[in-house]
Amino acid sequence: MRITTPTSILRDWTWDDLPALVRNADDPRVAAMMRDGFPSPYTEEDGRRFISMATSPATPGLFLAIEVGGEASGGVGIHPLSDVYRRTAEIGYWLSPSRWGRGIVTDAVRALVPVAFATYDIVRLQAGVFSNNPASGKVLEKSGFAREAVHRHAVTKNGRLLDEVLYVRFRTGNPDLDTPVR
Ligand SMILES: CC(C)(COP(=O)(O)OP(=O)(O)OC[C@H]1O[C@@H](n2cnc3c(N)ncnc32)[C@H](O)[C@@H]1OP(=O)(O)O)[C@@H](O)C(=O)NCCC(=O)NCCS
Repeated sequence: MRITTPTSILRDWTWDDLPALVRNADDPRVAAMMRDGFPSPYTEEDGRRFISMATSPATPGLFLAIEVGGEASGGVGIHPLSDVYRRTAEIGYWLSPSRWGRGIVTDAVRALVPVAFATYDIVRLQAGVFSNNPASGKVLEKSGFAREAVHRHAVTKNGRLLDEVLYVRFRTGNPDLDTPVR
């Protein structure tokens, strides 16, 4: 997949991205806002594990590199949930701090929302944002997501107990209009 946004190219990961991935992901300011599966320090071995997963046809969901200035500078993904949550997907993203504040992730999320709804039989797209991450909340609000709930003390990160703010965007824009249960 390849999507051109005003500020980046969203495209499939390749093994050639390994050096840029490790260089850009290895930053505690990024890891601090992510689940613990995103390690810090971010080693070459972590990069290999990620690219292996992201390029495997057996991996559910969508993993795209955010290419800026000719290199993979971040990532954005769609992760469908399972079981009773199977008509919900999560959206996740990160970007190298050297590229922050230029609207790059907002453009990426805006571009990926229609792709997520076209690709998966989902009615909700959601993101759980740590309460100390207003920039991510801003990205989602600028992309048409609504702040739906605050899960008090849901997150333990780097030794701190944080709230998780859940943002959601519905397929129809209005959950009352979503398709009936099947
Ligand atoms: C959150 C993140 C993805 C944002 O990427 P980005 O490309 O810099 O985002 P954008 O430039 O599109 O938008 C950021 C917005 O947040 C605002 N912002 C930044 N820091 C802020 C702060 N401390 N408080 C309030 N708003 C803030 C910016 O001003 C901008 O809004 P504006 O366009 O209205 O001025 C990036 O900071 C990042 O990778 N963080 C670490 C990983 C992460 O948080 N992932 C998401 C987990 S839910």
